[in-house]
Amino acid sequence: MSGEVYNFSAGPALLPTPVMQRAQEELRDYRGTGLSILETVHRGETFGEITARTEATLRKLLGIPEEYAVLFLQGGASLQFVMLAMNLSHSGDHLAYVDTGHWSTKAIAAARELRAVDVVASAKENGYTEIPGQAAWKSLDDAAYLHYTPNETIDGLEFDYVPEADGQPLIVDMSSTILSRPIDVSHYEVIYAGAQKNLGPTGLALVIMKRELAASAGVEVPTILRYRTHIEAGSVYNTPPTFTWYLIGLYMDWVTGQGGLEEMARRAAARSKLIYAAIDASGGFYVNRVAARSRSRTNIPFGIDDRELETRFLAQAEAIGLKQLHGHRSKGGMRASLYNAMPFAGTERLAEFMRDFQARHG
Ligand SMILES: Cc1ncc(COP(=O)(O)O)c(C=O)c1O
Repeated sequence: MSGEVYNFSAGPALLPTPVMQRAQEELRDYRGTGLSILETVHRGETFGEITARTEATLRKLLGIPEEYAVLFLQGGASLQFVMLAMNLSHSGDHLAYVDTGHWSTKAIAAARELRAVDVVASAKENGYTEIPGQAAWKSLDDAAYLHYTPNETIDGLEFDYVPEADGQPLIVDMSSTILSRPIDVSHYEVIYAGAQKNLGPTGLALVIMKRELAASAGVEVPTILRYRTHIEAGSVYNTPPTFTWYLIGLYMDWVTGQGGLEEMARRAAARSKLIYAAIDASGGFYVNRVAARSRSRTNIPFGIDDRELETRFLAQAEAIGLKQLHGHRSKGGMRASLYNAMPFAGTERLAEFMRDFQARHG
């Protein structure tokens, strides 16, 4: 195929081209060592330098205070759903969760296997089209922590405010928006995110956690599932996916070189504006049901009120290099995921194609 290919996948997502090029150049011989990172021991000096540098770069980008540990763990964000409940609460405790879509529902279901969960606010009543304002939430009572998902990757809903906990630890699943804007890390006790969207390839979850919280897990938590174990072991308690970790390091360098998180935020706003403008100007041909104040800057689901046209849209988009635009299998339709690595030109190309397709089929 001629012409640029743009990858709109929700994850594993696109990686910045310079990151791929660097990895390709270094694949056979990592910086004169004569070895590939794929065959480099995870406890040696070479890999140790990579992990130390990655953590330092991440700490700088996000402004992570010293009292927070930075962990890279296996099992994805999904294992965090369980580890959090296991480590940060005890049998008999109850937990407070906000339900805003697919991923918060999954987090709630996982936590419910271990503890009582109070859903203190839910977008279910409005069909997952608007984030409930905090004034309408139920009381957190004495919940062991409060958990929320600021951006729902599948539903395309995003918080337009940062919730306040009532003295409880605030835990946030930032899988689809981490590194897409500056955040105040100290507002949260735990931030976690699967790597495969805005940090690098699949295989690791980032966990940024106030160290003192990790101390409280009881002996009932198996060693490998205790945060304390991984803090003490520098996230190499067992063999990690080393190549993923190395690529995350390259990704961090790329974000830094591009101007950091303020620049990522500026780009995210500009990209999403373009796609929402194409939807809103379509006179109802393209439909996105999310209330304006809750629209995601990262994942934009949209549909056409005609299944056959949606199939054609996806096939024609694919043919001109606009790839992986299909919606989640539970929703159908289309979804444009616009992560950090999506060039503005890719978004322009999609908006143009949307207008063109409507002109031909509307
Ligand atoms: C917001 C959010 N949370 C959790 C997950 C689950 O991540 P993983 O597949 O890494 O377990 C995803 C995956 O897409 C997600 O988007």
